[in-house]
Amino acid sequence: MRIHTYERLWLVASLVLIVGFIATVTYGAVGIGIEMIGDEPGTIDPDAIGDDDRFGDPRVEQVGPSEYEVYVVAYTFIFQPAEIEVPADSEVTFYLTSADVIHGFEVAGTNVNSMVIPGQIAQLTVEFDEPGTYGVVCNEYCGPGHHTMEGSLTVVPAERYDQTSVAVTAPNAVEASSTVDLTATVSNGLLEARETTVTVDIAGETVERDVTIPGDGSENVTVEVDSGDLGAGEHDWSVSVDGLTESGTITVDERAAATANAVDERAESATNPVESEGAPGLVPESSTTGSSGVEPGGDRS
Ligand code: CUA
Repeated sequence: MRIHTYERLWLVASLVLIVGFIATVTYGAVGIGIEMIGDEPGTIDPDAIGDDDRFGDPRVEQVGPSEYEVYVVAYTFIFQPAEIEVPADSEVTFYLTSADVIHGFEVAGTNVNSMVIPGQIAQLTVEFDEPGTYGVVCNEYCGPGHHTMEGSLTVVPAERYDQTSVAVTAPNAVEASSTVDLTATVSNGLLEARETTVTVDIAGETVERDVTIPGDGSENVTVEVDSGDLGAGEHDWSVSVDGLTESGTITVDERAAATANAVDERAESATNPVESEGAPGLVPESSTTGSSGVEPGGDRS
């Protein structure tokens, strides 16, 4: 059988193309690991995302020595959390869902890219080798604010990664001759226990506490001050731990302070003006009586 030269050329070219396509698909799946987004996590009611254990509090969670899960909720026109931080060289699994319309979740410059569909949970696992900052963009048109819908993903060196947070409870205003309890709750979001130092500063007095926060737990540091020691007026406080700082002001009522000083002069016990304990349960109940080393009357001049 004689095949025309051009016919033969086309046949060979088509065969080369077909083999080429199969080769690229195989290379994509085996060589660089392109895969379909997993649908194992199933579905979720988009109107009840707030009640969901995973998405009610969108976050990064450590689940193994080098394994992390990231729960992301897309809304028009934000991602929550908008800023994601994960350690390098660890396995990160993203779980994505939308609260309203279809969005996209693309980590620019990587192969992390998924549609985010209301009612569905998308799952994808990646490992980031190099520390760096990546932009996160929505790549599905979702409304007039679509172009502003963005976030960031920061990959930090594993040894510098921490998930410590601090919350402080302190009164805004107190009467004189009362006890001011300032409690800092330091939480460790990682699985390994963490040793750190909590620095509490009230009206120029600094208290440092070394604490060991259990893995996935929290530790309270309570500093107790007599408002008579502070004196009337406003007093700034701040709590610092691992580069995080919380601050505020406590106001000691002035008229009450005048009365309190009269009481203070009669008080006999001379306790340390600043009491501090590692755990709230250990704060001595009796440390609230007056004190000697007080500047009388605060600043009533
Ligand atoms: Cu969300 Cu576009």
